[in-house]
Amino acid sequence: MDPRVSVAILAAGLGTRMKSKTAKVLHRAGGLSLVEHVVRTAQAVAASADIVVVTGHQAAKVEQALTPYGIRFALQAEQKGTGHALQCAQPALPADGYLLVLYGDAPLISIDTVKRLIAAGKQAAAVVLTTRVPDPAGYGRIVRDEAGDVAAIVEQKAANAAQLKIDEINSGIYCFRADLVWKFIGQITTNNPAGEYYLTDIVEILRANGHPTKPLELPVADELLGINTRVELAEVDRIFRSAKVRQVMLDGATIERPDTVSIDVDVVLGRDTIVQSHTRLLGKTVVGEDCVVGSGSVLENVLVGDRVRIEPYTLLADSTVAAGVHIGPFARLRMHNEVGENCHIGNFVELKNTKMAAGAKANHLAYLGDADIGAKVNVGAGTITCNYDGVKKHRTQVGDGAFLGSNSTLVAPVQIGAGSYVAAGSVITKEVPPDALAVGRGRQENKEGWAAKRRAGK
Ligand code: UD1
Ligand code: CA
Repeated sequence: MDPRVSVAILAAGLGTRMKSKTAKVLHRAGGLSLVEHVVRTAQAVAASADIVVVTGHQAAKVEQALTPYGIRFALQAEQKGTGHALQCAQPALPADGYLLVLYGDAPLISIDTVKRLIAAGKQAAAVVLTTRVPDPAGYGRIVRDEAGDVAAIVEQKAANAAQLKIDEINSGIYCFRADLVWKFIGQITTNNPAGEYYLTDIVEILRANGHPTKPLELPVADELLGINTRVELAEVDRIFRSAKVRQVMLDGATIERPDTVSIDVDVVLGRDTIVQSHTRLLGKTVVGEDCVVGSGSVLENVLVGDRVRIEPYTLLADSTVAAGVHIGPFARLRMHNEVGENCHIGNFVELKNTKMAAGAKANHLAYLGDADIGAKVNVGAGTITCNYDGVKKHRTQVGDGAFLGSNSTLVAPVQIGAGSYVAAGSVITKEVPPDALAVGRGRQENKEGWAAKRRAGK
């Protein structure tokens, strides 16, 4: 059996340069918080119970965001450095196997690279992921010995002039033999200009005890990009999104002007679906095959069946839309709606907590809140469900095949029977029996010649 792999994700820092009330690792890129990306990568190589996130700033919020992942947490109440952070995780982690150290603010590290690091880790006491950058300022520098092993990692503040010129930098990502790192981690001191427990010191400690650290050098630095400011956050977001857009195109969706489209990492698109420019597909949205998502539309946590046509500037959230539906332009499905097959929802129609059975139509200017609309119902322009009495919400039920005339006002709770007609302009406050005509408005009276007389001043 392969040796056990455990993971410590360091995520206790505040991220002062984000200038935010929110802990850095909870900022989002590509539709997930930064630390979620790292947790998902960790889950590709380790069991959830062997993954520990070290929290500090806003620990409760970080834990809450990660609860669905079933991983573990260790609190670092005071941030005394990366070495101290790892020490805080020790009681929650296994004593043997291999220990991977990742950062909660470096979410681009790929599963492939992590696997290579672990493979290299199995040949050594410790492996550190490195790369070369044109401007190494701020990073720990990799000091190699004649054999090419890492003799030391020297932090910016502690480096001498020659070391400052080294362009090979420490990513902060390591794979350690767990027994060794846990045996020696207590020897890290705060004897450095920052007065912190530097995890990087473990390299020299291991070396002094006969366990050299190997470098694994990446030819390009992009996976190691960490986030310190919102400028880097935007850059990382762009990287995740362009990778996602590329993937959905390779999987068979057409994306117009890909650089204008935002697709969260968990979104799924069917083949031959066309996504027009300037759309946002968010959360757990799934769109079927042969659909069109119009320009400027925003879909968040919606399930869309096949052959659905969404016209431009349509907002859909937390709803289900069955096959063959036509929605928009300028429609809004606010939350908890179920739209049946082949329904039509036209411009300036809002649905909230409403079910529309197959073939129902609301083509223009309507508010359908807390309603059950039967199959093939025709909802006239201007129809409003009055679902709120100022205290409580009530439901409106409209039976199959009913016809709601334009400007119908349906005062809930109320039931409109199957096959009935509601006359245009009616205010409906009482149940309408099936197949009846309900007229609830003042009768029209014509006064012959009235206008002509008035004009003549009589
Ligand atoms: C660290 C490395 C440096 C490396 C760089 C790469 C050390 C001493 N230095 O420096 O060699 O080039 O990362 O980005 O390790 N954290 C905690 N608790 C703490 C301190 C930090 O959880 O007490 C977490 C932070 O939230 C962050 C990560 O550890 O996710 C790195 O901390 P940071 O302070 O950014 O380290 P650097 O100074 O950048
Ligand atoms: Ca950093």
